Order: sequence, then structure tokens, then C-alpha cells
Amino acid sequence: MCGIVGYIGSKRAYDILIQGLHRLEYRGYDSSGVAMISESGELNIYKSKGKVEALEHFAQNKDLSGAIGIAHTRWATHGEPNDINAHPHYSQSGRIALVHNGTIENYTVLKEALTQHGYSFVSQTDTEVAVQLIEYIMLTNNCSLFDAVAEATKRIVGAYAIAVVDRQNPNQIIAARQSSPLVIGVGEGEYFLASDATPIIEYTNKVVYLNDGEIAVINRGEELKVYDAKSAECSKIEITELQMSIEQLEKGGYPHFMLKEIFEQPRTLADCISGRISADGKSVVLSGVIEHKERFLNAGRIIIVACGTSWHAALIGKHLFEDYCRIPVVVEYASEFRYSNPVVGKNDILIALSQSGETADTLAALELAKAKGAFVFGICNVIGSSIPRATDSGCYIHVGPEIGVASTKAFTGQVTVLAMMSLLIGQMKGTVDQQTLATVASDIRRVPALIDDILGMHEQIEDLAKIFTYAHNFLYLGRGYNYPSALEGALKLKEISYIHAEGYPAAEMKHGTIALIDNDMPSVVIAIKDNVYDKTVNNIQQVKARGGKVVAIVTEGDTIVRDMADYVIEVPEISECLTPLLTAIPLQLLAYYIAVNKGRNVDQPRNLAKSVTVE
Ligand code: M6R
Repeated sequence: MCGIVGYIGSKRAYDILIQGLHRLEYRGYDSSGVAMISESGELNIYKSKGKVEALEHFAQNKDLSGAIGIAHTRWATHGEPNDINAHPHYSQSGRIALVHNGTIENYTVLKEALTQHGYSFVSQTDTEVAVQLIEYIMLTNNCSLFDAVAEATKRIVGAYAIAVVDRQNPNQIIAARQSSPLVIGVGEGEYFLASDATPIIEYTNKVVYLNDGEIAVINRGEELKVYDAKSAECSKIEITELQMSIEQLEKGGYPHFMLKEIFEQPRTLADCISGRISADGKSVVLSGVIEHKERFLNAGRIIIVACGTSWHAALIGKHLFEDYCRIPVVVEYASEFRYSNPVVGKNDILIALSQSGETADTLAALELAKAKGAFVFGICNVIGSSIPRATDSGCYIHVGPEIGVASTKAFTGQVTVLAMMSLLIGQMKGTVDQQTLATVASDIRRVPALIDDILGMHEQIEDLAKIFTYAHNFLYLGRGYNYPSALEGALKLKEISYIHAEGYPAAEMKHGTIALIDNDMPSVVIAIKDNVYDKTVNNIQQVKARGGKVVAIVTEGDTIVRDMADYVIEVPEISECLTPLLTAIPLQLLAYYIAVNKGRNVDQPRNLAKSVTVE
């Protein structure tokens, strides 16, 4: 959560910072702010509750000069979202300003100590403690900003990416990271700083990913220097070339990123598959798996840790690995796993599944499993993010930047990678026969075109959404491979429309939830032709018998459910294990159109952020 941006060079920093904040707004939008050292040497901070637009409005007619600055967009953790708690924060003397992404766990202890030294605090944030601590160290030790930040990082416990400027040195930004991401863009005589690469790409494609425990010294016109915070030794700087384009970060004519991302899926999945399934469909190539073949052949168990939508994809992964690789799989919420006392063996493989690659709980869960000797494998979207950097091996889903807070194309990318992985491991183990492999692999290649066909029905789904916009509760039912799809459909609706929805295994409903069903409670039932189709048909009848309305997602040509359900959406036939890739599309569209009808902020729903880097 929270996004930070920084700039030092010869251009007006404000413009670059604001543009960067817009790019990072998906990480939190409770408030935003900028700090710039002006041409006359003032350290000006402007901040405002709400979105970046509010900040721009507030900053009009202010002194926006200066070619150095830092900025922040906030997802509130400590203290309510208001102007005072917004970042950047000043030090007591007003000399230093700081932005922070993360949480400082020992902030109350530090605050007490600083209070005894005469410091007072204006905000309720943990962040203000960091800036006061840095100033306190600087003044009492009479040291440089770099030394003060290095010393402060030794005293701070928690997660942080920080950027700090000192009014008395308008040629320097100091940045540090521990568990929260930080990327430095290297331009011609200028540097950029951001929580991810999206604010940087329009200026340079050369970036340096800061590692945990490192401090960067960014001096105007000088070579970038990175140090290990503990040893103060200079780190080797590795410049990475970004493979991202600005077009991927724009709405491209769509009213919302979410809709764009839903419609992008035929292409993003084609990219995800590209080069990974041989032309004859007889083999799958995922180098991250092949290079560790022995690990997968000897795996006693696979543990998949994830959160939210990624957790739903993980549940589908469990079916895939168990069906095709005959390896037992457990799927854990990362937040639960990290604080449990799990039995993890050396032959276990832990898969961390995460779009952003930055989810704090998932990262901590993988570190725990790693410490216990498991082989850790990442499946992520954001290249160079923290999870891929912490794992032994992995596989990117390659679906491009996902900006809408509700995950859509990442979900289908994750399921596609899990499907390819299960085929590859199954082939290596001999647990999947060549015929099955060829059928499923060629079906994976058909998915982009089939999704394109389903997207062609968007108007039908838009009409359906009108009928259900004012429902207060929804039930989503599915079985087998599509039970996780039901969970995902319910989550999509909840998070962007704020309608209560519950995902349920269709047959479990009769053990309690069925009591909720009446004329006002629509059920969305995924009733495709799978091995439990007949059972799902029974479940639909049970709903209908209680007066419930049923929207059914069925296999093309189905007549049985069509006669029974109130509304039907057809998806093409495909290998059962891939059906969640198709059923996801109408569920995403239904949630989207209902949310739009309700006038919700689809891309930035209330209380949420795209990247959950706090607990
Ligand atoms: O980046 P991650 O995949 O680790 O994120 C996990 C969840 O925070 C994320 O899927 C969240 O549930 C989305 N808002 C769902 O649409």
C-alpha cells in the first residue's frame, strides 16, 4: 500500500511527481502530497486528503518551483485519512521531509523516546516518527543525512521504503528500503524514484531495484551510490532494462482500467502462453521448472500461499497439480500460514502466487517456508518485484501491468501458468499421458480466441446487470474446478459494487446457506458440463424450489439448465481444467457492469489498494 515517487534533475519536479502519483494511485488514494525544495531554497510541502486531483487543486497558485522533490499517495494504516496524516512529513525544525511506504512496528517506543528529547508530533502516523528520528540523530551526532538515515534504519523495526530530502542540501535524495519496494530510474543527468516502475517508464527504461537493507544516495549530476545499511559497504549496482510501454499504462479509450483489462485477456493470455507450448502441442517449456526438474520430481507436497484473487487461482492450482502430477497440494492464506507453525519439509515446494509480487503476507509466508528448508517458487506478474527476487525460481505470468484494483487478467494469467506447470510436471513425472497433454495443451492455445468470443457477449451481460443492480445479496455457487470461480465471482462483485456476495460450493449450500434463499437473493451458478454437472443441476433445482432467481453459466448448447434457470450465459466447451478461464469472463463483466450502474469507483474502490504491502 502507498506509493512513493521522487525526482532529482533539471526539470520541474512537481510535474514529474504529480504524473508519478497518478500512476501509483492504485496503491492507495486516501491522501497525497509532495515536498519540493524550491528555487529559493524553501522546503515546500503541499498535501491533501483524497485523490491526487485534490492535491493538484490545492497546489494551484503555490510555489511549485524546484528540480528536486518527493511525493506520496497514501493508503492509511496509522491515523485516519486527513490532511495532517498525509505524507510527506516534516521534521520538527522543518528542515527534513520524508515519505514512507510500509509500517513502523516499534513507533510507539521510538515516539516516547523522542518525546522525552523534546520532540512533539502533529500527526497520528508511524511515519512522522521516522522523520523526527532522522533529524534527532543528525543534530545530536552532527552527521550527514546519509549517516542519520543509516543509523535510523538500525533502530526502526518494520517495513519501509523511504525517501528523504534535506532543505540544506537541494542536490540530494536519500532512499532506503526494507520489505517495501523501491525502484530508481537512471536518466540522462536525472534520477527518478518510485514504488514501482510505472512512474519511471516514460522517462527512462534503465532502472535499479533497491534490495532490502540498502540505502541509496542520489546526488544531482553524480553517479548513483548504493550502500548496505548495516555494514556501510558499497553495493554493486545492477541496471535492469524495463520491458514495459506507456500504452500499457493508459486506458486506451476504455472508461475504466478494469474494463480494458477484461478485454485485454485474449492478448494477455496469448502473451502468457507464447513460447511456452510447442507448436505441435506435445510439450510445455517453463525454464523455471525445467531448471529444477529434480525438485519437482521429488516433491512430497506443494504448498501454495496467496491472498485474495491469487488465493482463488491457487485453489484451481490444487486441482491441476493433484489431477496431473499426483502431488498432494495444500492451499493456505498467506496471512494464516505466516503465523502458524507449519510442518514444512525439505521435499516440500512452496509456491507464492501474487500478481504484484509485493503482498506482505505472501512474502512473509515464503520467507518462513524458505527458512524451514522448502524450495520456494514464485508465480508473479510484476517483473523485478519482491517475491520473484526472494524465491529460488519462478515463472512470470506476463499479462502486463494490472492497474484496476480488482484483479482480472492476472487471475486468468495465473490459472494459465498453473495449468502449463501441471502439464509440464506431469509429463516429467509420467503422471499425465501424451494424449491428455496434447489435448489440454492445444486447448490452452484455444483459450484466447474463446475468451474473445465470450467478450463478444458483453451487451447481453450488460443487460443482465441492469436487472440485478439493486440486489442486496448474491450467492455464487460452483463445484470442482469452478468452486474457486464462484469465490472469485463473489469477490469481484463485493469489492467493486459493495454488494454483499458469498461464494459457496454448490452442494454445501444445503447445510445452512440455503436458508438465505428467497426471491430477493439471486444465485449465480456455474453449471458447465463437468463431472458433477448432474449434481449441480440438482443444486439449481433446490434454489428454484425456494423461489430463488438463478443466473447460470453453462456450456454452449446446454438445454437442461436453460429450461430451469432464469437467465443463462453460455461459454464454449473446453477441457474441464480450463473452464475457470472461460467462466471468469462473464463473472468479471457482470460485477463490472453492476458496479458501473451503481456509480461506484470501479478502478479504485473504497478502502482498497492494489498492492497490499502491510499486514
Ligand atoms: O498482488 P497479489 O496477487 O498478491 O494480491 C492479492 C490480493 O490483494 C488481490 O488479489 C486482491 O484480493 C484483489 N483486490 C482482488 O481483486
